[in-house]
Amino acid sequence: MRYIMRFHFYLVIILYCVPTALRAEDGSQLWLRFSKQEKPVGTVQIIKGKSTDVTLALAKQELECYWKGGDVILKLDPSRKDLKDGYQISQHENQVYVIAGQSVGILYAVYHLLRLQETGAGIPRSGWVEIPAYDIRVLNHWDNLDGTIERGYAGHSLWNWEELPNKLSPRYEQYGRANASIGINATVLNNVNASSDLLKKEYLIKVKALADVFRKYGIKVYVSINFSAPKNLGGLANSDPLNKDVQHWWKSKVKEIYALIPDFGGFLVKANSEGQPGPQDYGRTHADGANMLADALSPYGGTVFWRAFVYHPTKDDRAKQAYREFVPLDGQFRDNVILQVKNGPIDFQPREPFNPLLGAMPNTAKMLEFQLTQEYLGFSNHLVYLAPLFKEVLDSETYATGKGGTVAKQTDSSRHSGRKTAIAAVANIGLDTNWTGHHFAQANWYAFGRLAWNNSLSSAQIADEWIRMTFTGVKEFVEHVKKLMLESREVAVDYMMPLGLHHLFAFEHHYGPEPWGDIPGGRPDWMPWYYHNADTLGLGFDRTVNGSRAVTQYNPSLDKIYGNTSTCPENLLLWFHHVSWNYRMNSGNTLWTELCFRYDHGVQKVREFQKVWDRMEKYIDRPRFLAVQAKLRIQARDAVWWKDACLQYFQCFSRQPIPYNLERPI
Ligand code: GCU
Repeated sequence: MRYIMRFHFYLVIILYCVPTALRAEDGSQLWLRFSKQEKPVGTVQIIKGKSTDVTLALAKQELECYWKGGDVILKLDPSRKDLKDGYQISQHENQVYVIAGQSVGILYAVYHLLRLQETGAGIPRSGWVEIPAYDIRVLNHWDNLDGTIERGYAGHSLWNWEELPNKLSPRYEQYGRANASIGINATVLNNVNASSDLLKKEYLIKVKALADVFRKYGIKVYVSINFSAPKNLGGLANSDPLNKDVQHWWKSKVKEIYALIPDFGGFLVKANSEGQPGPQDYGRTHADGANMLADALSPYGGTVFWRAFVYHPTKDDRAKQAYREFVPLDGQFRDNVILQVKNGPIDFQPREPFNPLLGAMPNTAKMLEFQLTQEYLGFSNHLVYLAPLFKEVLDSETYATGKGGTVAKQTDSSRHSGRKTAIAAVANIGLDTNWTGHHFAQANWYAFGRLAWNNSLSSAQIADEWIRMTFTGVKEFVEHVKKLMLESREVAVDYMMPLGLHHLFAFEHHYGPEPWGDIPGGRPDWMPWYYHNADTLGLGFDRTVNGSRAVTQYNPSLDKIYGNTSTCPENLLLWFHHVSWNYRMNSGNTLWTELCFRYDHGVQKVREFQKVWDRMEKYIDRPRFLAVQAKLRIQARDAVWWKDACLQYFQCFSRQPIPYNLERPI
């Protein structure tokens, strides 16, 4: 009997370890390519942990499969509330000690140890403590119940609603493990443009099945709700948040959910935005709507993420609308409501200034929403490493609390003890074998997790880790590819919309350029001209006090900095100003010449990326090398398309020649 049990134990270990050890080179293993050790090096001991704790067992198993650094002691210490779901690691003689207050902290620590091992970083002798910057680190899936994904470029949805709850795809486990390895602890399963059907019993049991898989990875499940569900599903006369029947409907729905999923996270809500229903349909405010849901969730510890992405087809500047709607509501939201704010005031553009709401509403919990899926950055065809964009936003000075009030500090846990903090990103994950469509888009998922854990990491550090874990630690490869990644976002800005230009995208699908786009009778705020305002005098959106006055939504001194052409950062110049074609830029070029150079620079850099990548062939496996090479070819083609389309179009207004030393548009 003992032998049979031992055989079983080894079989489980082999089954668990072998698939990852096979190193399929199709990208399916993401950054989790730890090499299996032949036989255990050292022992893994758990002290003060429940033997039935599946998360702890998982942590132990990961170490036993892949850790080569000797003995490890894992210790749970419930009195260490200060660690939250973080951990402390130290070394004594040849043993590594990991202390955490919760078992998920141990799991995170184990992945950290493995990361250090894989990247060759070594364990600091002095030991260290890691506490996450945000309590809730959440992916937002824009997945529909029919399997499609809004703005998804990596295949269909991972969630197979038809097969759930009876059949569980192995990818659910892999998804949980990948997220746990970078500290992501929450997932919103469905599109913000939500179907009420998700709240039907038949779907809730499917949600429960997923929650049951993700639990051991420390991941809580949330869902997006449709504000009209009481009317659509419950057959009520309306969904007015002040209607007692509606409140009651939500309370009993929430009760039903928690009976199935006791650790359910809560709701994400897109209300009164882009045609979605919301409290304003009944003359109520966002606070009325959010608080009603918050009250239903509060007895169970649930949270409402209420989105601030709202705008209407008015004559007023779209960039100003969310601020105008939400700022008067400051202080009116319940404690378990967090306002989820997109990083920029328009919509995930290649570059935007940070959203002014993030420097306002001091009495309201706010969280950032980034977008990993590259809706406005070449889908999964373009190599664009997004950590520099995330860092640019996080490190932006809001002047909300004098100096030092960066967006990071306005939203993370460092200044908000007692208040739940969160950060979200719209996922770029689908059923594609490599998960994200482009091998390098995996880096954006990875970078989001790492920054959600520690927002002071640099883009370079994260890229370095990711490259070593995903491809190789060979110096030549790491250095060249890291440089390419770090430049890639700025390069995309250059060939798409430099100097603060924005929303020049083709209508609806948002892939290529369409600066001339104009649909007769279409909404003006969905037409590119609305944003670039090109005329014979110049280019750009005047958001100064002489224009839309959007600049006044920023705190002093920032409004002055942005509001003046001489102090406004050049990379945001055309966001805030309408500037004459002959305006002198810092380089000495006129605006027109600078624009030409920027577009051209973007194109030349992508061509350079192609050459750099070609030189990397000998360092990595062929399938991934060829896949990235092919994508770069598409990116180079598209960069030329962007440059030619935009320059030829703007030239109709500038009426100036393309500088003679640049490649001419065809
Ligand atoms: C963008 C995007 C939509 C999405 C919306 C949102 O407008 O194009 O597909 O629904 O953002 O964030 O709600």
